[in-house]
Amino acid sequence: MKNTSLKSWQGITCVIGLDWGDSGKGRLIDDLSSRADIVARYSGGSNTGHTVKNKYGKFAMHIMPSGIFNQKAQCLIGRGVACDLESLIEDEMAQLQKAAISWKNLIIDEQASLTMPWHKLRDGLREEFRLKKIGTTKRGVGPTYADRIERVGLRIKDLMSSDFKDKLFEEVKIQNKFFNLKLNPTQIYRRYLKFSKLLKPYVGQTIPIVKNAQNMGKNILFEGTQGSLLDVDFGTYPFVTSTNIGVIGIWRSFNLHPSEINHVIGISKAYSTRVGAGPQPTKLDGEKRQIIIEKGQEIGTTSGRTRDPGWLDLVIIRAAAEFNKLTALAITKLDVLTGFKKIKVCTSYKINDKTVEYLSGDAQFLAKCQPVYKEVDGWREDLSKIRQFKKLPKNAQNYIKIIEKLVDVPVKFISVGPNRGEVIYL
Ligand code: IMP
Repeated sequence: MKNTSLKSWQGITCVIGLDWGDSGKGRLIDDLSSRADIVARYSGGSNTGHTVKNKYGKFAMHIMPSGIFNQKAQCLIGRGVACDLESLIEDEMAQLQKAAISWKNLIIDEQASLTMPWHKLRDGLREEFRLKKIGTTKRGVGPTYADRIERVGLRIKDLMSSDFKDKLFEEVKIQNKFFNLKLNPTQIYRRYLKFSKLLKPYVGQTIPIVKNAQNMGKNILFEGTQGSLLDVDFGTYPFVTSTNIGVIGIWRSFNLHPSEINHVIGISKAYSTRVGAGPQPTKLDGEKRQIIIEKGQEIGTTSGRTRDPGWLDLVIIRAAAEFNKLTALAITKLDVLTGFKKIKVCTSYKINDKTVEYLSGDAQFLAKCQPVYKEVDGWREDLSKIRQFKKLPKNAQNYIKIIEKLVDVPVKFISVGPNRGEVIYL
């Protein structure tokens, strides 16, 4: 492990989920953001859920950057985010308002796409008619990006323009006709007019803000969403979301090349989880599954669905590390594994006795992969009070060292309990 600590990070840093998301990003971002001048969201929509537990309370953020709790940092929502204003305004801002937390430092990029009511309806309809369900959160994210790529989607800029009403009415007419919907344009218009008035002070151009900050040597933190195995290109297509989760997403949102990022932190739990459909080679069943779900509270922040737990899959983590050129690993929820006599970790895959590596973009291939495990001894001690790596039980240290060795990236952060501060920086 190299000697630099994430606690004193400087420059440009990003936090990227490694397998199927839900890895505790919100919490790490909340911690790292105390050093940030800028915290920026670059991908995803309200399908993602970042739980933040801090001195102000417990919050579930979907669109709002988790860095909003650092009132000194400027928070940006980049053009690559699918902006669900029902979630942002009626849920997230309401949560913040209740706790008297200001979002005065927020800027939403005027080019960001709007997730509109028809996107959510289309998401649900498409899933209903699919023979093989994807397990979408039905937050309208896929259809929002589809419309953006087709160059027909409304953007924040449209919401702010004087002809928004005309654009909206035209679009509702088309959506109703194409998808046999019964949307009432006047009702939608009234609601969105309210949104536009509320958001007006927070709309701008985020790219120059990032460029200026970069030129001035300020600290910029990019907040990823989900996990690399849900990336539309790298992940297990079609069981993926519709954005680029990894470093490419930063470039798409902020014109910032991946080579300009100083610290690329990949985050994963000490075990894997997946919610929704699609293959997961190390999926657990039986008693161990139940223990992890209960101890790890593996229930989705956005959908309320139970996540499927599995042993840590280092084949996938290694592939995601390579894909994103990680410089550091963050391992969360190590404490959830406390009490297991033996812990397994997947070190390679086999198909018909032949060793294979992860093949990106192909769920069918992953479904055929058989995990090969290394079994290690577990530990029983409570980890929550431990703040130094060398004070961890030897078997827990060994587990972390195996991850480091097989992924070939240093572990720089470990969380050992659910509360703020129950972490180890290395
Ligand atoms: P969608 O992006 O909501 O359409 O969902 C597509 C797939 O990605 C489904 O399997 C979802 O369960 C999964 N997914 C989307 N967002 C998240 C997330 O934040 N955490 C975990 N899984 C997610």
